[in-house]
Formats: sequence, C-alpha cells, structure tokens
Amino acid sequence: EKGGYEHFMLKEIFEQPKAVHDTIHPRIKDNSIVIDELNMSEEDIKGIKKIFIIACGSAYHTGVTGKYVIEDLARIPVEVDLASEFRYRNPILEEGTMAIIISQSGETADSLAALREAQAQGIKVLGIVNVVGSSIAREADNVMYTWAGPEIAVATTKAYSTQLSALYILALHFASVRGKITDDELSTMIHELELLPKKIQSILDNKENIQKFATRFVAAKDIFFLGRGIDYATALEGSLKLKEISYIHSEAYAAGELKHGTISLIEEGTLVTAILTQEDLYKKMISNVVEVQTRGAYVLSITNEGNTECEKSTDLIFYIPNTDKHFTTSLAVIPLQLLSYYVSIGKGCDVDKPRNLAKSVTVE
Ligand code: F6R
Repeated sequence: EKGGYEHFMLKEIFEQPKAVHDTIHPRIKDNSIVIDELNMSEEDIKGIKKIFIIACGSAYHTGVTGKYVIEDLARIPVEVDLASEFRYRNPILEEGTMAIIISQSGETADSLAALREAQAQGIKVLGIVNVVGSSIAREADNVMYTWAGPEIAVATTKAYSTQLSALYILALHFASVRGKITDDELSTMIHELELLPKKIQSILDNKENIQKFATRFVAAKDIFFLGRGIDYATALEGSLKLKEISYIHSEAYAAGELKHGTISLIEEGTLVTAILTQEDLYKKMISNVVEVQTRGAYVLSITNEGNTECEKSTDLIFYIPNTDKHFTTSLAVIPLQLLSYYVSIGKGCDVDKPRNLAKSVTVE
C-alpha cells in the first residue's frame, strides 16, 4: 500500500505534483477561475471587508502564506488565527467579515469549535477541507475541497500543498472579481499555477541533493529557519515539519527579528536554513545570512534559480525553479519536507508516526 516507497510520508511527498494538479486544474476554465462549488455571488465577493483564516498547525501555516497572497492580490485585509486562540478570545466579527477554516481531516476539535463560534456570531464560513463529508465540510456554509486524496503520514505534506493551491485559486478569483488584477495578469498567473506540478516534480527529481545535506543536520541540537514575507510563512512550516518528525528543536524567525533577540543564540556551528524567494527582499535576507555566518552559523540557503548573488554568502545552496512571487511557498517547501524526512530517518525516528502525535486531533 506504500506503492514501493519505504514510508507513507515519502510516498505522499511524491504524490504532490498530482495532488496540486487535481486541486488546481478543475478550477481553471478558459483562462479564468471558476470555483463551481463556491456559493458566492460577485456582489458577495465585492462586499468582503475582512477575512479571518482560522486553522491549526500546518494548516495555519498555509493561512499565513494565504494572508500575504490574498492581501497583495485582492487587497482584502486578512487576519490569520490559531483556532484554539480564536475560539476563546471573543473575536470582533463585524458585518462583511468572512471566515475561512482550513483543515485536512475536517475533524480538528478547535477548528470545528472556531467554525461554530463564527457562525454563532452570524459570520459565513468557507471550509477548505480534504476529507469529503467530514464535520467541518458538513457544517461550513460553503466548502472548497482540496483533492489530495487520503493522507496517512502524521506529518502533512500533500494536503498542505493542496491547501496552498486552494488559497491561490481563491485569491486570484477574489482579485479578478474585485478588479484588482487585469485579465493579462490573471492569465499569466493562471499559467504559472498550471506549471507548479511540473516544477514540484523537478525538485523531487533532485532529491539526492537534499539527502546529502541532511547528513549534516542529523546531529544538530537546534536549527533555525529564516525568511521574510512569504518566505517567513514557508519557514514556519519547514521548522514544524523538521521538529515533529526528527525531534530536533527548531524555530522559525522573520529574519528582521534576529536583532531583537534570536541572534544571541547563534554560535559556532549553529545550523540555519535561509529561504530567499522574494526578489525585492534578497538584499535584506543576504545581509541577515551574513550576520549569522559572521557569528559562526552554518547556512543552507533555498533560493530561486539564477540568484547566484546568494552563493558568496552561504555554505550550502539549493535552487528551486522560478515562479510567480506569490506561489513560491509551494516550491520552497518541497526541499524542506525532504530535509525533514531524511533527517528523521537518519536519526532512526518513526517518521510516519512520530511520538505523542495523532493524525486527527479530535480533542482539544
Ligand atoms: C503537521 C500537521 C498538523 C496539522 C494540524 C491540523 O504536520 O499535520 O499540524 O496540520 O493538526 O490538522 P487538520 O488539517 O486535519 O485540521
């Protein structure tokens, strides 16, 4: 049932090109976005004043990427919330607010409770859900399914990737209905979306390079993940993936925050993974990389093909294909998933079933 792969996690990592294709493809028709199941009129979409994205764990991290993408493309203010925080803090949900609950299982207790809290305050909820007919899918006012198929490994990979895809589709749809992007821009971005599966595959074809780097990470005590903008959202996921299956302490930092505390933790040999996919932030990120290297850090940089500027100031480098700047999480996360996987098996951990964790968290 593992289809020739040693673990479900590796199998699911390799299923990502198909999962992303299956989630994107049915929603693209004649160079525009059509979300058949989305029960929202143009008026409804034009009337959105604010979006809350609510989720737990990795699903929350897709929401952090989603915030950058929706705000930049559709110009709608987005607040991203952990479900366990949202449900207990008496959130302010004014008219024109829309809630999006993201969940693979559709059964996560806190996410379901957050959905009910939003509805109780008269807010319509859109669920981005993988398991068809799950509680969140049934109770949401509106559902957009991710088509990842069954995910068995506790650490999410393909469901995470499809949640990102669903958010991109939604962002482009809202942006175009609200007149924030031109038809030309829309069609260029749709084209980039359609190329994502092939680009993900090309990174997977290159897995030996990441496997080599992983040997360097196996003995680490702490690993830091740095990024700015969307790369910060990717860093959050890279850090969670690594710690949950390899039991190595890791932290994700918005690189601009280094100076405000974290840099005191950097010493000779500390491992740092830097993510640099945002061209307008390259210079800032490179200067952060130099700062940690000067203090002895050993740095792996994940960056776009062609950003050779980065080579001078990093110990290891992994290039990902170029794409639209809004979609880079989908590519940068792939080497981070592979890194976590190889570090975990390198340490002899139970990669598909990490200690203390359950696939579906139905109690709070
Ligand atoms: C991490 C992971 C978890 C889930 C979280 C939410 O790899 O899988 O952090 O993302 O428990 O689960 P769902 O998406 O089922 O609500």
